[in-house]
Amino acid sequence: MTDSRKILGIAGSLRKNSYNRLALLAARTLLPAGAELEIVGLDALAPFNQDTESSPAPELVAFKTAIRAADAILFATPEYNYGVPGVLKNAIDCASRPYGDSAWVGKPVAVIGASTGQFGTVRAQLQLRQSFVFLNMHPVNQPEVMIGNAAKAFDSQGKLVDETSLKLLRQLLLNLVSAVAPSRSRSVAR
Ligand code: FNR
Repeated sequence: MTDSRKILGIAGSLRKNSYNRLALLAARTLLPAGAELEIVGLDALAPFNQDTESSPAPELVAFKTAIRAADAILFATPEYNYGVPGVLKNAIDCASRPYGDSAWVGKPVAVIGASTGQFGTVRAQLQLRQSFVFLNMHPVNQPEVMIGNAAKAFDSQGKLVDETSLKLLRQLLLNLVSAVAPSRSRSVAR
C-alpha cells in the first residue's frame, strides 16, 4: 500500500516559461523517498470578490479541494515590485474564504522563489511568510531557497543547474516532508 506524502506546488506566475514553475519541476526531481509533488496552475482562478465568496466558482472549489488533499504546500513565488505577485495573493485570498472555511489551515508550508534579479525574491518571500500567521499555516523556514540571476541558474532547457540552489532545495523538501509526519491531517477544521 502506498502511503506517500503529497505536496502541492503552487507557482505565483502565469508565464509559460516561468522560472518559478521550472523551480517546482526541479523540486519534483529532488524529493525524498515517499513524497510526491503535484503542481497546480492559477490560470483559472477569477479575481477575488467578497460578494460571491459564498457561491464559489467550480475552479475555486477544485483548487480548495486540491489544497485540502495535500499534506503540505510548496509556494514558488516571483517577486513583483518588491512584493508577492497579485496572482498568488489572489489565490491565497480566494482559498482562505469564506471565513471559517479556509483550505490553508494547519498545512505545513515552504517557500522558494526565483527571480532574474540578484536577491532571488527575498522581499516577496518575507511578505508571503507574513500571511502564514493569519492563515495559521505551519512554515518550514529553513533553508531559505532564493534563486537569484535566474537566467544563469537555469540552463537553456529550463533545468535548474545552480548547485547551491539544488542543494538547498533538496534539504528544504526533506524538512517539509518531515514536518508532515507527526500530525498528518489533510483537512483541519477551523
Ligand atoms: C519583476 N521582476 C522583479 N525581480 C526582482 O528581483 N524584484 C522585483 O521587484 C521585480 N519586479 C518585477 C515586477 C514585474 C511586474 C515583473 C513582470 C517582473 C523580474 C522578475 O524577477 C522576472 O520577471 C521573473 O522571471 C518572474 O518570475 P517568473 O515569471 O519567471 O516565474
